[in-house]
Order: sequence, then C-alpha cells, then structure tokens
Amino acid sequence: MFSKDEIIRAGYRVLLEREPENTSVVEEAAASMESAEEILQHFSTSTEYIEKLGAPGYLSAVAVGRGARRQAIETRTSFENMQALFERIRKQWSKLGETEPYWSVLTDERYRMSTIEGHQASFEASARNEMNLFDAALERCFMNPPKGVCLELGCGVGRATRYLSARFDRIVAVDVAAGNMRICEDAMRQDGIDNVDCRLLTKVQDIADLPEFDLLYSVMVLQHNPPPVSLYMLNTLLPKLRPGGVAYFQVPTHTLRYAFSIESYLKSDPSILDMHALPMQEVFASIAAARLELREVLADGWTGQYGSHTFIARKPA
Ligand SMILES: C[S@@+](CC[C@H](N)C(=O)[O-])C[C@H]1O[C@@H](n2cnc3c(N)ncnc32)[C@H](O)[C@@H]1O
Repeated sequence: MFSKDEIIRAGYRVLLEREPENTSVVEEAAASMESAEEILQHFSTSTEYIEKLGAPGYLSAVAVGRGARRQAIETRTSFENMQALFERIRKQWSKLGETEPYWSVLTDERYRMSTIEGHQASFEASARNEMNLFDAALERCFMNPPKGVCLELGCGVGRATRYLSARFDRIVAVDVAAGNMRICEDAMRQDGIDNVDCRLLTKVQDIADLPEFDLLYSVMVLQHNPPPVSLYMLNTLLPKLRPGGVAYFQVPTHTLRYAFSIESYLKSDPSILDMHALPMQEVFASIAAARLELREVLADGWTGQYGSHTFIARKPA
C-alpha cells in the first residue's frame, strides 16, 4: 500500500517532472484529498501539467506528422562555414554559461541565478526522470547494456552527469560553455564523484579528437546546433563507438515551418538561442555509415512540440 504522500510526490515527479517546493505543499495536498484517484485527477487537470503537454497536443501533433513534407534544410557546407557555425553556438552558450547557467539548461524561472539556491535540490532531481527513461530504453533494447566509458555530449552543469557516473566506469563529459563546465566539475567534486573527466570543446575539430567510448549520451544538445554541425558531430562521434557500444541521443527531426539556409543564418541575429532540426533520413544515414544497428526511434518530449526523437543504436559486438 502506498501512502498519500508517496502518490503525491510521484505525481510531482512523473507528471510535473519536478520535486514539490517543500514538505508543507505535500502535507496540504494530502489533507485536502481523499483518494489516489482524486490525487491523479488533481495533477492531470492542473494548469502546470496541461501547459507541460505543450500547445499542439497529441492529435495536432499527429496532424503535423501527416502533413510533413520535405523541408529545405541545408546539412552540408565547407569546413570554414562549419567553423563559423560552431563558433556562433560556442559564443551563445559561453555567454549563457557565465550569466544564467542553470536556467540555460532548464528554462524554468526557478532556476535563475537569483532563485536557484532554494531550488538546487529540485534541479538536481530533475534528471532522475530522464535517467528512468534511459534505463527503460536500454532495458527494452538490449539484454546486456554497455558499461565502460560514456561520452556525454553537452553535459551542461552536470545534471545528468552525476547519475551517469554511477552507471559507467568513466564519463568523458564535454561541453562548449566554460561556465557550465566549471559548475559541472565543482558539483562532481562536492558529491565525491571522481570518475568524470570534463573537457571543454573550443573548436569544431575538437570533436574528432575525442576518445573512443562505449555509450554516447546526448539530450537537449544537438537541437541547439545548426544541421551541418549536428550532422558533423554524429558522423564523427558514431564511428567512435566500440563494438557492443550504444548511441542514445535526442534530436528534433522535423519542426513545423523549419528551414535552414547557411547564408541567411549567418546574416541573422546571433543572440537568439538556436533551435534546429536534422532530417531523420540524415540521422539514419549517419547511423548506417557508422555500421550501427538501429534499435529504436522514440518520439520524445524534449522540445515540447512535434518532431523530437531519441535514437538508440548499437555497434555490433
Ligand atoms: C540545454 S543544455 C542541456 C545540458 C544537459 N544535457 C542536461 O540535460 O542537463 C545544452 C548544453 O549543451 C551545450 N552544447 C551546445 N552545443 C554543443 C556542442 N556542439 N558541443 C558540446 N556541447 C554543446 C551547451 O553549452 C549546454 O551546456
């Protein structure tokens, strides 16, 4: 039998994907609700939950998918352009890393520098839900999920890193934002975690110098990179998987009204935070070129709209 408190806390974690603000909100909710049904009703009809579901809703998301046509997305360019694209992303994130590191990772007002202190616990706990998704995906796809070295592409302030560190022998955590990486390193030190090796990427070529690994983990990162850069990263990283190794990464593959032209992008305002999509066909081609076996493509909720997918693929042993 579960207590009312446990069901309420589960409602926060599973439906609202956060921790309750404090114990008194849980106590108050427990006092005001009689049954598990009433508690679930309360969460599933709350404004916070409905807003989390996102504007399009399930049926309109299906409609977007059915109406999807080939989009004008440039995915290849010269090396000089690639460097310019990467530099723009590096600058955007470096600035965010120095000003609003936590908020830049999870855009929730509670995680602004002015209020993060009171919400550090919920920020850290927020990765628990995605680790459950990760564990469940590995369990669905593989009898013997990999151990060894995990490459975390875009570790941010170490939200998921601390959980990954318990699942693998070593984590190579890479990011382009020095401020975020500093926080990640400090957080690992504070938690007594000593198997995380943080590496700052300063230029696009640094990707090619990364070591081989057994698992690639990347969530909410490729979406911020122009398609030629995200494709370059996949094409460079996937062949670095060791036999038996697994790639687990998220990227939007189709976004309503999205197009990408390098020429107009380089003329646009560089201060606007980038959100991009890489066509699924390009992701499949990258997986095939690295000779990986695709095990699953899962529609996910990372962008809050239609088209974001998590790919799970394995290099045969
Ligand atoms: C939205 S945050 C997510 C961080 C982390 N994955 C998490 O879930 O907490 C995106 C992170 O990716 C980093 N990033 C963006 N583009 C990158 C790239 N091309 N290579 C490495 N890191 C990148 C940013 O600096 C930022 O720390």
